[in-house]
Amino acid sequence: MGRELTFRIMRYNPETPEVKPHLQDFKLQEEPGMTLFVVLNKIREEQDSSLRFDFVCRASICGSCGMLVNGRPTLACRTLTKDLPDVTTLLPLPVFKLLGDLSVDTGTWFREMSIRTESWVHDDSEFDPTAEEARMDNELALKIYEGDRCIECGCCIGGCATANIRPDFIGAAGINRVARFMVDPHDKRTDQEYFEVVGSEDGVFGCIGLMACDDNCPVGVPLRGQIAYVRRKMASAGWKMKVKS
Ligand code: SF4
Ligand code: SF4
Ligand code: FES
Repeated sequence: MGRELTFRIMRYNPETPEVKPHLQDFKLQEEPGMTLFVVLNKIREEQDSSLRFDFVCRASICGSCGMLVNGRPTLACRTLTKDLPDVTTLLPLPVFKLLGDLSVDTGTWFREMSIRTESWVHDDSEFDPTAEEARMDNELALKIYEGDRCIECGCCIGGCATANIRPDFIGAAGINRVARFMVDPHDKRTDQEYFEVVGSEDGVFGCIGLMACDDNCPVGVPLRGQIAYVRRKMASAGWKMKVKS
């Protein structure tokens, strides 16, 4: 017989603001191999059909199930109950717009961040359909791929001290995005142009460097290295711009 588990879940429906946010306890029996995906679906099917949360892939791919599990941002679909105490608190990720209970709108945040960091390859040269495909060595391709592995779950943002007090901070996910294009030789932006995008207090210089983001990233994007890389490049670009002026 498994343990009796208690899940203390934040409830809030923006459509009924007169009911203030509160915690509600749900109890169920633990089963072998149980994840929070199973727990939340069981609660919704058997105890309260109004409970809101997001899952799509159940396999750490889609990034939709980020939440605070006992205060730590992580993916619910890959969290096993065997690693949790008898009582677990589930809260929605902060920083993002709350849609209800555990469901937040990460999509709008990431779309705005993509526009702000101009997350596309910048190259003004004319397209030549007869040119040979540009080659790239494996090491460099892998470096670019490291940045592309972000699944946009928002865990690095929800647990970031700066993002929690500065809504305009681009966070580790934003800095990682900039790093991805900086290392890509197809992108012809200069360091000075990147400085306009990320060389500010709401960009890389707002980061206080305690690396909660690196600890919390569920897919292991090397955020520590990406932040250090962008910070170094932007500090040097800022210094050169100052000397020139
Ligand atoms: S290291 Fe920077 S980006 Fe990462 S959590 Fe801390 S302040 Fe946020
Ligand atoms: S960098 Fe990691 S924690 Fe941040 S949004 Fe991407 S996958 Fe999630
Ligand atoms: S449901 Fe897709 S990452 Fe958890």
